[in-house]
Amino acid sequence: MTEILHPTGRDIAHAAALLAAGELVAFGTETVYGLGADARNAQAVAKIYAAKGRPSFNPLICHYARAAAAFEHVVPNAMAEKLAAKFWPGPLTLVLPRAENCPVSLLAGAGLETLAVRVPAHPVALQLLQAFGGPVAAPSANRSGGISPTTAAHVLAGLGGKIAAVIDSGPCDVGLESTVLDLSGPTPTLLRPGGVSVEALEAVIGPVQMGAPITAGHTLASPGMLASHYAPNLPVRLNAATVAEDEALLAFGPPLPGAKFQIQLSEGKNLTEAAAKLFEALHELDAQAPKFGLARIAVMPIPNTGLGRAINDRLGRAAAPRDF
Ligand code: TXA
Ligand code: MG
Repeated sequence: MTEILHPTGRDIAHAAALLAAGELVAFGTETVYGLGADARNAQAVAKIYAAKGRPSFNPLICHYARAAAAFEHVVPNAMAEKLAAKFWPGPLTLVLPRAENCPVSLLAGAGLETLAVRVPAHPVALQLLQAFGGPVAAPSANRSGGISPTTAAHVLAGLGGKIAAVIDSGPCDVGLESTVLDLSGPTPTLLRPGGVSVEALEAVIGPVQMGAPITAGHTLASPGMLASHYAPNLPVRLNAATVAEDEALLAFGPPLPGAKFQIQLSEGKNLTEAAAKLFEALHELDAQAPKFGLARIAVMPIPNTGLGRAINDRLGRAAAPRDF
């Protein structure tokens, strides 16, 4: 059952408590309805991908009540400060390097070294963010590949029964997603056109480069962006049935014997738990395996159903021949 909440103080406090408990809450913003989870809680973020039926881990936008809170989790530059002052709260998302002690789960950022942040211009969304007091990861609240929802009824049609609650704040004003601008490189690059026009951005920061378009259901279209996806340093071997002398093990279920170092994704073969641990596990394997004299990673088979498809998509990329 999905609870339908109203924009009252009591319901917003309840929605914030659901987020704090690791549940999914859909809420209206000025652009489209977002499917929110505590961005610091990898298990909660994994539920987003499961509910949306996403076949891969797209990086998610983190929502904040104030620019100052967003800029504690990323490293802002002068352009980011100027754009935030001009357009936040509003339909602009900025991609910036993650701050050193950024508490946002690696899964929310799909393992990238950058993080997308925005402050939405909707009173109910802002009240929810304020009441929750932390970063809320929220993609559009539709099934993967579906149309972005602009009413609570749209959300329920796609995700009813799969999420804890939706706050019905009426139809969205803009009806089109936020503009996504990458400020993490030398030149500001437009990754997705949206609620704030390029002309309006250029009036504040000068020329903006056009990036490869991001299409729904795909991760980052440009290979340059893909290269910045976290790939483990150690070579990866999938569907392992045995563990070689020089291999560390990424286990799923009862571990294969013989590994000198291993990390368990989910002892009970729970795909949501495995998704939540995946990126941290790859980091940890890179850091620890060499200490045991191990040079490669063997990955146990993971079923290609539900979130397993997204996990296998990511592991497949990690195991693909390297050209970077
Ligand atoms: O208006 C919006 O932005 C809505 C509302 C809910 O805020 N959210 C939304 O999220 O449209 P989503 O997940 O459907 O789209 C996020 C976009 C994707 O195209 C994703 O690839 C891009 O932002 N993105 C997120 N993090 C990124 C990163 N670190 N680097 C590059 N692109 C990123
Ligand atoms: Mg979307």
